[in-house]
Order: sequence, then structure tokens, then C-alpha cells
Amino acid sequence: MSFRTSPPLGFARAGGPPSEYVEDVSPGSGTLPPRARYAASDAKSLSLNGSWLFRLSDTADAEDDSFAREGYDAAGWAELRVPGHWVLQGHGSPVYTNHLYPFPVDPPRVPTENPTGDHLRVFDLPGDWPDRSDGGAVLRFDGVESCARVWLNGTELGEFKGSRLPHEFAVGQLLRPAGNVLAVRVHQWSAGSYLEDQDQWWLPGIFRDVTLLHRPAGSALDFFVHASYDHVAGTGTLRVDSDVDGRVTVPDLGIDVATGEQVTVPAEPWSAEIPRLYDGVLATEGERVPLRIGFRTVELADGLIKVNGRAVLFKGVNRHEWHPERGRALDLATMRQDVLLMKRHNVNAVRTSHYPPHPAFLDLCDELGLWVVDECDLETHGFTEQAWRDNPVDDDRWTPALLDRAARMVERDKNHPAVVVWSLGNEAGTGRGLTAMAEWIRGRDSSRLVHYEGDLDCRDTDMYSRMYAGHAEVERIGRGLDGGTHRRRELPFILCEYGHAMGNGPGGLADYQRIFETYDRLQGGFVWEWIDHGVKDERFGYAYGGDFGEELHDGNFVCDGLLFPDRRPSPGLVEYKKVIEPVAIEGDGTGGSIRVTNKYDFADLTALAFTWAYQVDGETVASGALPVPPLAPGESAEVKLPEPPATAPAGEAHWTVRAQLAADTAWAPREHVVAWGQFAVSARPVPSVPASDGPVAGAGLITLGPASFDARSGALRAIGGVSVTGLRLDVWRATTDNDDGAAWQSDIRYGPLWRRLGLHRMRHRLDAVEVDDDALTVRTRVAPAAWEFGLSTVYRWTSDGTRLGLTVSVTPDGDWTVPLPRLGIRFGLAAADRVRWYGGGPGEAYPDSATASVVGRWQSTVDELQTPYVRPQENGARSGVRWAELGGLRVEGDPEFSLTARRWTTEHLDAAAHLTDLTPGDTVWVNLDHGLHGLGSQSCGPGPLPRYFLRAEPTRFSFVLSEVLA
Ligand code: GAL
Repeated sequence: MSFRTSPPLGFARAGGPPSEYVEDVSPGSGTLPPRARYAASDAKSLSLNGSWLFRLSDTADAEDDSFAREGYDAAGWAELRVPGHWVLQGHGSPVYTNHLYPFPVDPPRVPTENPTGDHLRVFDLPGDWPDRSDGGAVLRFDGVESCARVWLNGTELGEFKGSRLPHEFAVGQLLRPAGNVLAVRVHQWSAGSYLEDQDQWWLPGIFRDVTLLHRPAGSALDFFVHASYDHVAGTGTLRVDSDVDGRVTVPDLGIDVATGEQVTVPAEPWSAEIPRLYDGVLATEGERVPLRIGFRTVELADGLIKVNGRAVLFKGVNRHEWHPERGRALDLATMRQDVLLMKRHNVNAVRTSHYPPHPAFLDLCDELGLWVVDECDLETHGFTEQAWRDNPVDDDRWTPALLDRAARMVERDKNHPAVVVWSLGNEAGTGRGLTAMAEWIRGRDSSRLVHYEGDLDCRDTDMYSRMYAGHAEVERIGRGLDGGTHRRRELPFILCEYGHAMGNGPGGLADYQRIFETYDRLQGGFVWEWIDHGVKDERFGYAYGGDFGEELHDGNFVCDGLLFPDRRPSPGLVEYKKVIEPVAIEGDGTGGSIRVTNKYDFADLTALAFTWAYQVDGETVASGALPVPPLAPGESAEVKLPEPPATAPAGEAHWTVRAQLAADTAWAPREHVVAWGQFAVSARPVPSVPASDGPVAGAGLITLGPASFDARSGALRAIGGVSVTGLRLDVWRATTDNDDGAAWQSDIRYGPLWRRLGLHRMRHRLDAVEVDDDALTVRTRVAPAAWEFGLSTVYRWTSDGTRLGLTVSVTPDGDWTVPLPRLGIRFGLAAADRVRWYGGGPGEAYPDSATASVVGRWQSTVDELQTPYVRPQENGARSGVRWAELGGLRVEGDPEFSLTARRWTTEHLDAAAHLTDLTPGDTVWVNLDHGLHGLGSQSCGPGPLPRYFLRAEPTRFSFVLSEVLA
């Protein structure tokens, strides 16, 4: 065994090993100053994406740099897709930690075990590539994690850190027509890793585009498009400051001015709601750069974030870049899909948590309309474990790296109208480095606001921002009763993260939205987060933390999105869409009119067409168009409904009014539903069974109407030809991530408490089976081992000869200190596939996440009723069910109930760690719930509000059961 010794690496390490830059706090060397990014121009470019050669080493300097030389024989190297992460292409594994650094905290040192990927690409210039005498060329890297050293044709260009930021090198003098050798050494860990402790997978690699850009003589360098809007005059003012002089033309506005010259013309404004862009051109002597100009003015006025003179309400999401197979290497189609999904779900804002996204994403936000909080690639959260000692943001030696990151973000993205707020980063504590960033940003771009959540006194920021504050606190903030510094009290408030969408949930979004809409100071929030970061995996379906044998990991905390990893919307997103809909349609259904309110900040309602439908027992009996005036933002109107159809049959009736797109838009087709409201007209006749047929005790069996029961236990055996097993009271659910809560939560977490109190292993004691003239009564006590509290439970069965009535009476005894997970009955059916029901649907709903549930007639299969949360847990309940049919059985509820049916037991669901652990059995297990406990958001926020608690109290509920005869 031999030990390699190396000199201690400090902040300055003259004469250190060749890889000493890895642990250097400086942002790098050899790169060009940051500048504005644009998608294309008439200057030639060459994408160097594609298949590269790749070699992985265990340490930063296991291999020398001879691979960068021409003529190097890379035989035996693997092929790797660029952009990509090597750990997702069969070389090593991803690592997931939330905030813990997966290496010893000893800044800026990193472990000797430092996976290092050497990347090689040989390329020819296209035949029409301009001659070397015509200008130069730039090599651009849009994103490399975490540190790269670059050579071209054997010459070292430099090295850089700042994973989700662009870096350019001037390479013109090195290029040759054919056989150019581009060599890139990428280290997984570097000093930069200390600044990139975001809650996500650690995924090294060249994960964004690599491009060679021709730079003709006289081509554009950096330029800054200043395009403001005067909402009083209705004019746009344009000035393009450019390092290289040129002319700016905007044909639609008749603009043709020199760079640096300001011009004011009548123009339409840009907003996320109406993203009006004007096509322009910046023409320098050597290049024509297309511009997409949006006129808008962002300001802090009257203590509010205003755009074009109006306060905006952010209905936002936090978006990490994620693809289940490609990690953070996103293609354009996936980015577009994200923006379309956001727009279709009424999302109007995105915080690019926690780094600037691929630049094409911002082009899409400009084009389709989303407010963007552009966040810098900075998080040092792991320092919290040492009381923030040595935090790089409070250590001057790191300030150049912080300023470099701020500049690379601002310079790259400054020409996007969609970007309205710069965010300094996330969870980096506090320190002078952050102040320096804020000061630099304000000096460079005073046309946008500055955000940082960790700055509780708002010394450096233009808004008070928090994450996961509970409803009551947000309300206090709204009322200005939160205290804090004078400066903070003058500022608007946003929740930069809330509604933790991990697993089933979040609950409570509608309650937040009501508060946001009540107080001007509250300018909305951003749900955490957009998509589950599950890694597609043969073993598990989707893998999460720990599935790759990580030494430290945070499990499925990485799966907390509104989209499943395959981008299917979760019920949480469907709920959010309803909660934030831009038109309120309210009424009580019996008054003959409804109230429509335009909740947009800028748009009137001309883009929408309204329809009404009249439904009886969930079937539409008549429908038509509903004329609604083109209300301006904030306006409301009473809108008359038609007369109820004279021919409507008797039954439970509802009006359903929908606001739909009147024409195709760039983000959704005509008739896409933007908002809706549903109003009950008449109540439902309550189902009941007259006890006209009494029980008959026979040999071992009791018969009652169509049903037979075990005479000894009183257990239901069959209803007509449908056999039923295990019918009994059920209080347990496979705890959700939000039930279990996060380990650091100081509030009561019911998931663990329920388990401690044994609610997952209730015993059912039989006290009596009573047969009388009218009814079969089974008396039981349901209670967990080891505890004195319990639920006296009486099942009373009656029949009218064809149908069976069941009334369940539950009386808690003892000291119940916790709410119940659920309360209802469960039973098994031998076979069931199709499910039909009348009630809430089409998706799942829980007490505090139920606004998106529409009363109607729905059908599904048992399999489709399951919601595929990446870590299996309680899911799939359809709420407000009046009746349901499955497995040959019809169930009617008094009152309405929640319906769940699955091919496995709750215990099986509870034990599963991945979807692949759920294997269907022969029985379909059905839960008919009288109540369910709320969901809340306690996996990283508050639990359910008390009004969504399912308290243990005397309760009675009934069902009518019958066989469905074909
Ligand atoms: C926040 C953090 C996010 C994420 C979230 C929990 O504290 O900013 O990055 O970790 O909690 O999912």
C-alpha cells in the first residue's frame, strides 16, 4: 500500500498539483466576460452536441492531460451523449441529498475520490464556415457540472465553475478546417460544489449544449435591450445599449434607430397574460441579431410589485429542470411541454429554483407568457449543520465567485421580458457576499426587483419572501401584523415556496389562495415544486434517494412535484389549476343567476367563451352558450342563467358553468377549460331501505333479503351472487408523505403518532350478534393493542328483500388524542374491474384538496383509480360519491362517501417502497369512507388546518348495497 502525499491545498496553492484549480474558490480563468445570450443570428454556428468519447477516473488527477493532445489514441473509451450526465449513462451513479453535502465540509477542499470525466470530440468545420481571416470564433458551454477544464487542439483554454451558467472561450485562432480536437475534463466535485448544494441529485457532466459560434468582424458583443412601458401614455420606450455600435429596427413599430438612441412610440405592453412581443433586429456591421422585444415596466410602488402600473398576483411554481432519463439535460420539446402544462393549469409564474434554467426555457416564457423569478446558481444550505460557520456567502474570499455567478445570470438573461425578478439564490444563510451580489445586480439592472428568501430583514431585497409559512402567519403578514424591520413592513410579501407537493397533496392550497386574494400585500406564491425527480429505473419504475446505494441520502424527498416524473399531472396540479383559476364563477344554483369575476391582472374576458350545462343525477340534460360581458380585470357581473329545462327529469340537479378558450391560442386549443363553477339546484333524495324483510337464522348462516351472514361472527358473506369478504370498520390509511411529515418538524406529526398508537393494527372484538324482527345487529369494539381507547362499532343490517341497508354507528371511548386517518368500512370483492360512480371526479380528492372534483357520472377501471405516487401511499379516493357500482355490487351512500378500490390491501400499500412492490392479488379491496383526514403539507410545511381534521367523535353513516343485475 502506498500513500500519496500532497501539499495542503489552501486558498492559494502555488506549485500545487495540476488539478489545484478544482479546489480554488475563484470562478475560473480564460473565459470571456459574460454577455447577453440569443438563440441565433445570421452568424454561423456549429452544435457540438452529440456523441463524444468518454473516460471516467476516480480522482481529479488520476490521468494526465495527454488526452487533450492531437493524435491521442482514445481507443477503448466509451461513447457518451452530450449534453448528458455520465452517471445516467452507465458510468457511476447519481447521488441524492437534500441539504447535506455528500462530502466532508472543509471548504474549499473536496474528497480525493472525485469522479472525473474526460470528454473528447473531434470535429470538422462545415464547408461554408467563414475563412479564418473573417473574424473569430467562440466556444460556448451552456452548463457543465461542476468544474471543467478545456483544451482545443492541444491548447489549454482555461477552466470554469458555475454549473448552470454559460462560459465562453475565444478560439478563433486555434480552429482549423478539419480534425479539431476538443477535450474537456469535468470534475464532479470542486470548490464550486460548496455553492451548489441545492436539494436535487448530484449529476456531473456536460449537461447543456456545447456550441461553436462564428464571430464575424464587427459582430455583436454584449447588448442590453431596455424596453419599458408607460401605462398612462400607452407608449413603449426602447433603447438598445450595445458594446458594438449598430442599428435597431422594429418594423411593426416603425423603429429604426442607432444603438444607444432612445425612442418612444405607441405600443402594446408585454405581460404574462398577453405576451405581446415585437420582432426586431440589432444589426452591427458584422451580424444581424433577431430581437424579441416585450415592453414592460416592473417597479415597487405603493409597497407592491407592479408591472405596467398594476399589482400582480403570482400563481407560481418552482421549477427544477428534470427529465426521468436525461436528468437536467433537457431538450427543447420537454421545455416546451413544461411551459404548455403550466399555462394549461393556470400557472402564471415560475421561480427557476435554484439556478438559471436552460436559456431556451426563458425564450418560451417570453413567447407564451410567464412571470419569471430568475434565480442564481447558489445554495450553501449544508453549512446550517455547523451553525453557518465558514459559509462562503459570508467570506470575502468567495465574493468574486458569487459576483461572477450573479453577472453570468444577469448578463445572459437580461433581455428577457419574462424575467421580472432576480433572485440571489436559495438557502445560503446571510452574509456580505449576498449584499455584494444585490448591489452589483442593482447597479447593472435597475429595471427589475431583487429577491432572496434568506434575507429576513430585507436589507438586500425588494420583497419579503418566506417559505412554508402556515396560513395563520401568512394572514398576519397580509394584515401587516408580522413585525420585522421598518423596511420589511413596507414591502410586499411572497411565499417563494409553499404547498409541498410531495406524494399525496398538498392540501390547503385553496385556503392559501383565499388569503392571498384578501390582502393586497400578499402577492401570491410558488408551489414547491413542479416535477418529481424520479430516475427511470428497471428495478423500481422510478428510483429515488438511496436506490443507488448512496452513503447519505434523503429518500423520496426528491419526489415532491405537481407532475409525476413522466410529466403526467398529479391530482395536486389539477387542484392547483382550479384554485388559481383566473375567473371566479360563483352562485348558489337556485337564484337564477351567477356572479362572474375577472381575476386576471391585465386581460379582459374576450378570449373566453362561457357555457352552461344542466345536469340531473350527473347526466347533462341541456346545455348552451352563456353570454358574459367582456369584464375588465377586477370587474364582476351578475349573469342570468337560462330557465331550468322544462323537460328535466326529477333528481339531484346541478348547473355547471365553464369558461373556455374561444379560439386556439399558442398554448391550448379552443374549448380548453380555464375555469368552472358548479351549483346545486336540488338536493339528492336520500337512499334508504325499509326494513320490510327480517333476518332468518339458519344452520351456520343468517339470511337477510339477498344477503347471507356467518351466524357466529355476523360477518357478511354474500349479497346475491356477489361474495364479500372481510367487511369491517377501517380507520387506517397507508400514511402519506405529508402524514409522516419531515423529521425536523416540531409540530405534531400524525403519521408516526398514529403508528405509535397502533391505528394500523386495530383489533376487532365481537361483542354480540343480535337477530330481531327487523334487523341483524353486530356489536363490536375496535381498538389497538396496548391502549385503552377504542371505537364501539355497531353494524345494523336491514333489508327490503332485494337491497341491503347497513348503518354503522361508531362511538369513541377512552382518551382519543389523535384524529383518525380515515373512518369507513372496507371489504374485499372476488373480482372487479370496471367502476362506475356518480359523485365527485374524475380524479381523487381529499378534504383539503377537493376543489377540482366535479360532480358527475364517471367510470374507470380499478387500475386507473390508482394514483402512481412514486413512493406508494394512500391515494385514489373519489369523494362525494352518491352511488358506485363495481364487481357486481351497487353501493349508495347516506351521506355521500369516498370510494377507494385497489388490488392490494392498505397494509400492502403501506409496506411498499416503490410502485413495483405493488403486486395485484385476487381480491379487490374497497373502502367506503365516511371521512378522511386532511392532507396538509407537512412533508415540509404545515399540517392540515384543524377544520380538515377527522376527529374521533360519535358518528353514524349508512349504505344501501345491492347486486347489479345485468
Ligand atoms: C426548501 C428548499 C427546496 C427544497 C424544499 C423541500 O427548503 O428551498 O430546495 O429543499 O425545501 O422540498
